[in-house]
Amino acid sequence: MTKLLAQDQDKTSGAPAEKPRAGALKPIPEDALILIPMRNTVLFPGVITPVTVGRPSSIAAAQEAVRSERKVGFVLQRDAQKNEVAPDDLYWVGTAGQVVRYITGGEGAHHMVVQGQNRFRAIEFLPGWPFLVARVQYIEKPEEQEGKLTPDIEARFLQLKAQAVEAIQLLPNAPEELAVVVQGLTSPGLLADMVANLLDVKLEEKQRLLETFDLPTRLDRVLAMLSERVGVLRISKEIGEKTKKEFDERQREHVLREQMRQIQKELGEGEDTGAELAELKKQIEDAGMPEDVHKHATKELKRLQRMGEGSAEGSMLRTYLEWLAELPWKDQPAPEIDIAKARQILDEDHYGLDKIKRRILEHLAVRKLNPTGKSPILCFVGPPGVGKTSLGQSIARATGRKFQRIALGGVHDEAEIRGHRRTYIGALPGNVIQALKRAGSKNTVLMFDEIDKLGQGGFHGDPSSALLEVLDPEQNSHFRDNYLGVDFDLSRVMFITTANMLDTIPGPLRDRMEIIQLPGYTEEEKLEIAKRYLVKRQLEANGMKSEQVELPEETLRKIIGDYTREAGVRNLEREIGSVLRHAAMRIAEGFSGRIEIKPEDLHGILGARRFENEVAQRTSVPGVATGLAWTPVGGDILFIEASKVPGSGKLILTGQLGEVMKESAQAALTLSRSFVGETLEKTDVHIHVPAGATPKDGPSAGVAMFLAIVSLLLDVPVRSDVAMTGEISLRGLVLPIGGVKEKTLAALRAGIKTVMLPKRNEKDLEDVPAEAKAKLEFVFLERVEDAIRTAIGELPAHARKAA
Ligand SMILES: Nc1ncnc2c1ncn2[C@@H]1O[C@H](COP(=O)(O)OP(=O)(O)OP(=O)(O)O)[C@@H](O)[C@H]1O
Ligand SMILES: [Mg+2]
Repeated sequence: MTKLLAQDQDKTSGAPAEKPRAGALKPIPEDALILIPMRNTVLFPGVITPVTVGRPSSIAAAQEAVRSERKVGFVLQRDAQKNEVAPDDLYWVGTAGQVVRYITGGEGAHHMVVQGQNRFRAIEFLPGWPFLVARVQYIEKPEEQEGKLTPDIEARFLQLKAQAVEAIQLLPNAPEELAVVVQGLTSPGLLADMVANLLDVKLEEKQRLLETFDLPTRLDRVLAMLSERVGVLRISKEIGEKTKKEFDERQREHVLREQMRQIQKELGEGEDTGAELAELKKQIEDAGMPEDVHKHATKELKRLQRMGEGSAEGSMLRTYLEWLAELPWKDQPAPEIDIAKARQILDEDHYGLDKIKRRILEHLAVRKLNPTGKSPILCFVGPPGVGKTSLGQSIARATGRKFQRIALGGVHDEAEIRGHRRTYIGALPGNVIQALKRAGSKNTVLMFDEIDKLGQGGFHGDPSSALLEVLDPEQNSHFRDNYLGVDFDLSRVMFITTANMLDTIPGPLRDRMEIIQLPGYTEEEKLEIAKRYLVKRQLEANGMKSEQVELPEETLRKIIGDYTREAGVRNLEREIGSVLRHAAMRIAEGFSGRIEIKPEDLHGILGARRFENEVAQRTSVPGVATGLAWTPVGGDILFIEASKVPGSGKLILTGQLGEVMKESAQAALTLSRSFVGETLEKTDVHIHVPAGATPKDGPSAGVAMFLAIVSLLLDVPVRSDVAMTGEISLRGLVLPIGGVKEKTLAALRAGIKTVMLPKRNEKDLEDVPAEAKAKLEFVFLERVEDAIRTAIGELPAHARKAA
């Protein structure tokens, strides 16, 4: 059954999911279980329940369990908020269960249906897997212990059953069949567990029930809790009936009050809102509105006075006037930009990024000379966590302006930017006007985050054209929000945008912007950022002083290398936070003196190292080559696997490859066939590029595919410390590719020693950080033969002849 389901999983997966790979992990002992920590579910034996896993370690655990057809142990974690759990964060009693269905969701969440089977107790946690594994002892089912029902168990059993049936009937939406199922149960243990599962009590109490191994005691406890619930349910049913009556009465009251108001109005006795309206009038006078807006506002105010506030329209109009009155209309002089001070602040807030800071300062200098001039808009492009948002904040600080951020991810509707017309119920201004109201000044740095994720135009108008208008210096001095219905001058706002990738930014928007790329950090840069900023910040965030804890350099290095794999530093900061919180615990428990976190302590705090050098393992067999890919989140390594199967000379491609990549594979096969001198009439060549978060298209894996096939046909493995990128032509020429810097940094992170690049990309080495250049050896390829010489070595005689 599980076999079938495992296949099922591949079919149902929408996104390229990480495929479980055989043989990549060391075997798990027979008496051990793969454990999955649960934030808010206690699994009971006999219960079937859906479980969603999102953490990479839990996904890996679930996939390994499905692949190897093993049970999984589900254990509750003590603190649901905690992301990285160590053995001490878990309850050690849990339920082993079978994954009966496994579905890969889109956005990283995976869903399973699990069937709870036996209680167990963890005896010892075992290191060495990318998820939790523990040696366990199963707890026998009490029924099996007892043999048959003793009278005292039987009595409790019957009482619990009766209570359970009553509870089900009192619940407003319980399915009727549930009562039938409960009636039919014959095992007291199962009944107790099922009821425990359904009880609406705290997780700790559920866990306590799980840990109550003695059957009579467990039945007593469940019965006590259930009786209490039934009591509550009886009362709430009564209350429900009463409130319905009350509700009808309240409606009557509302109608009466409304009538009374009308009568008062007729008699000229309206409530005294005169003072409030005077206040609003004063606000409008003081707001510094331009002439025409002021005239419009005064007219609307008069209308409001005539109308009175009782009506729905009156209250809408009042809200509108409040918006108008509270916007920063006044033209305060822009704070003078002091370039020297700006430089100092940028340096204070961010390590490195010299080229980027220089361009920012140039931009500020231009603005200083010509404040109302039409300077382009800065756009920071780069992977997550490289400091795009925080650079924006820093620019605001450096220029003495307010900072506001607008997230554009998933904005599909023009009205989110430009507002809804006032006639629309519940209308409000768009997020540009809202941000300016929050800022309270036109001298604001307004950051549009994730401009590359802006939804495409559709049914509700095109948000990118609205944005274009906001960002266009020719038009934004009289930006018109639909709700306001009057112009607002945005020309003093300093706009900055950010994006993860350039490709999806609409062309006209891109043309308005000055693109500044932030490609990601090397290990050394990360170390410096950690030492200078992240540790300090996390110490502060966790209320600790640097005298109390020390994180030596080797420890930071190990966190960078073994626990994070990212272009930016966001996860690094998070892991440092976890480590410091661990130290904080020890201090809270009374440890005095300075705690030094050594590299070897990390295992106990953060769990098993998350990223092993998998390159060596994967490339130890012939037919596998390590490619380099560019992705929106920085570079990544990619394994190209080739294998032979009996057939008729066909090429089989799997791994969700794009069209260009498929063509590239075909070219690689043709070329390698002629190169090795094999016709392959009775063999199919299968090329697989295992999944991962990498979009797999483009021609740049050509060399890697070629080498994978050549390695397969010659039966000689590709050197495991070599990674490569490059397009190939059918003649065997190696053609240039993009993303050299990102790819090189990815190779470095993955522990590669030699990087092969197309000869024509040699000039791009200029952009590669010195650290990477010092640690890596580069080989420049003109022809595919150059790649063979470096990565496979001297060819065997027969192949040499063919070449
Ligand atoms: N060079 C640096 N020096 C100091 N701190 C840095 C540096 N680069 C990044 N950081 C810190 O890393 C964290 C993440 O940065 P930030 O939130 O700005 O990333 P981002 O590029 O906006 O990412 P995303 O694309 O996910 O929004 C911030 O706390 C930031 O201060
Ligand atoms: Mg950001």
